[in-house]
Amino acid sequence: MQEHTSEAARKNPLLERLRSGTRELHDRIEGVVPLLRPDLTLTAYTAYLARIAGYYPPIEAALASAPPSFVEHFGIDERKKSHLLHRDLLALGLDEARLAALPVCSDLPDLSSPDRMIGCLYVLEGSTLGSRVLLRTVKNLGVDEGSGAAFLAGYGADTGPMWVRYGEALAAYASRADAALVVRGAEDTFTTLERWIATAEA
Ligand code: HEM
Repeated sequence: MQEHTSEAARKNPLLERLRSGTRELHDRIEGVVPLLRPDLTLTAYTAYLARIAGYYPPIEAALASAPPSFVEHFGIDERKKSHLLHRDLLALGLDEARLAALPVCSDLPDLSSPDRMIGCLYVLEGSTLGSRVLLRTVKNLGVDEGSGAAFLAGYGADTGPMWVRYGEALAAYASRADAALVVRGAEDTFTTLERWIATAEA
């Protein structure tokens, strides 16, 4: 992950705390995401998307069930990505019946408080930054935004601005938050997702 300055920490200490508190977990999850492996095939890419398609929907449903003012403040509805996974998997040859039969994760992070939800959202939103790198390699397999890489393309040209808006929403909320719980939400998200990816059947 990028190094960030103490200036950034001064402006948004909670974001910096999330970043430093989960750096190791990020490094660990990189180890189970197969998308940068030199031998990546379209089949392995499709299997990866099918796996995380079992993780995002229940998480996004939990986040969307937060109080409306919270959902609006963090732009939770416009940040949903499950439909992009769905679209990609259809483009990659799965049909609706196979999509409906995909395993759904039940080992989910504890999202019982808004503070934990914010930490979870940090992980999902931050991943759109790294996805820009992953998109470039997946394009070598012959897929693009319209043919199986909509999830990785994410917000496209809006990726930077969407991340900035998340940071601003976080900073505006920070005085009400228990920072330790926010970081716990992010840690739980990284660890449950890592476990879910790592335990996919080959
Ligand atoms: C092989 C897999 C991955 C690679 C190579 C990767 C790479 C990166 C890179 C290069 C950045 C910094 C981008 C920037 O600052 O513009 C980043 C940020 C981030 N990634 Fe990943 N990533 C991977 C997987 C993931 C996964 C699976 C998640 C979680 C779902 C994730 C969560 C994050 C977060 C939260 C940040 C933001 C860190 C911050 O600046 O606070 N990454 N990633």
